[in-house]
Amino acid sequence: MTASHANDSVPENQLLQGDCVELMGQLPSGCVELAFADPPFNIGYHYDIYQDRRRDEEYLDWSRRWMGEVVRVLSPRGTFWLAIGDEYAAELKWIATRELGLVCRNWVVWYYTFGVHCKAKFSRSHAHLFYFVKHPKQFTFNDQEIRVPSARQLVYADARANPRGRVPDDTWILRPQDVPWAFRAEEDTWFFPRVCGTFKERATWHSCQMPEQLLGRIIRCCSNPGELVLDPFAGSGTTLAVAKKLGRRWLGMELSPRYVQEAQKRLDSIQPGDPLQGSENPLVSSPPTGTAPARTPGRTRRRRLVRSRSKQPEGQQQLFSGEAES
Ligand SMILES: C[S@@+](CC[C@H](N)C(=O)[O-])C[C@H]1O[C@@H](n2cnc3c(N)ncnc32)[C@H](O)[C@@H]1O
Repeated sequence: MTASHANDSVPENQLLQGDCVELMGQLPSGCVELAFADPPFNIGYHYDIYQDRRRDEEYLDWSRRWMGEVVRVLSPRGTFWLAIGDEYAAELKWIATRELGLVCRNWVVWYYTFGVHCKAKFSRSHAHLFYFVKHPKQFTFNDQEIRVPSARQLVYADARANPRGRVPDDTWILRPQDVPWAFRAEEDTWFFPRVCGTFKERATWHSCQMPEQLLGRIIRCCSNPGELVLDPFAGSGTTLAVAKKLGRRWLGMELSPRYVQEAQKRLDSIQPGDPLQGSENPLVSSPPTGTAPARTPGRTRRRRLVRSRSKQPEGQQQLFSGEAES
């Protein structure tokens, strides 16, 4: 499908084939509530058309152009999430904030398993997810949509736990199997398994497919039903598929006609309200633990928190940090 819209109209629920800089250039300013971009990382990755190895300056100039268009089409209260690898994370954050005026709310690390095994250095197991907004104070953040069970709920069966759980954080984790008490659903590093070759979710014709659950968290949190979600580098169509399932309007762009054709089949095969692929909470199960004393009426929450912290063995104290707010 190619772009067939007038300058002042906004195509929706479409996947457009072509160069995203040109296609976004045809959109009116301020029409998008949430943009998610997972551009080529300029690391020599194999795509069917796009050549993923350019000189630094060329890649950065191009990044400036497409990010400039994203910022232009974002609504004044809009949000932009950028997925990027180590090689250009710092540069693209600089461009987004210092040159294009976005505000960075979080630098989220997405920890993934099943990365390529390196024998002579540490295997890469993460990507960067920048959470930018246009306005420092006015933006959509539906915390109730993305809360996860807290350690108090999962590990300690603590009667003081907020039954609504807590907002996920962002933290350093080494290997999940080395820290069995960590990496529970609420932990700071986002733990979504990569969509590896054997997974049912995997579209075999595209090799950098993002997990639906990761997009689910972003779209639920940073947009509302009926709002327009844009992905200028649609690839296998994950962002669009999740937006459709979650009842958002969606608009995608993709250079490769073949990817567009395949992604379109994926989009045609799903309906609003369909469940997302994958487990929302891969670590929701936890080892059984003892039950903490129930909340005593009349005592302040803060005092109880301090007391409980001081009783914890050192390694477990961290699990309580920030709990006072949740
Ligand atoms: C990292 S992949 C995106 C994967 C996607 N997030 C998913 O879940 O499938 C980047 C995609 O950008 C596409 N692409 C590269 N240059 C483009 C351009 N100028 N306009 C639109 N798409 C482009 C590539 O063909 C590739 O499919």
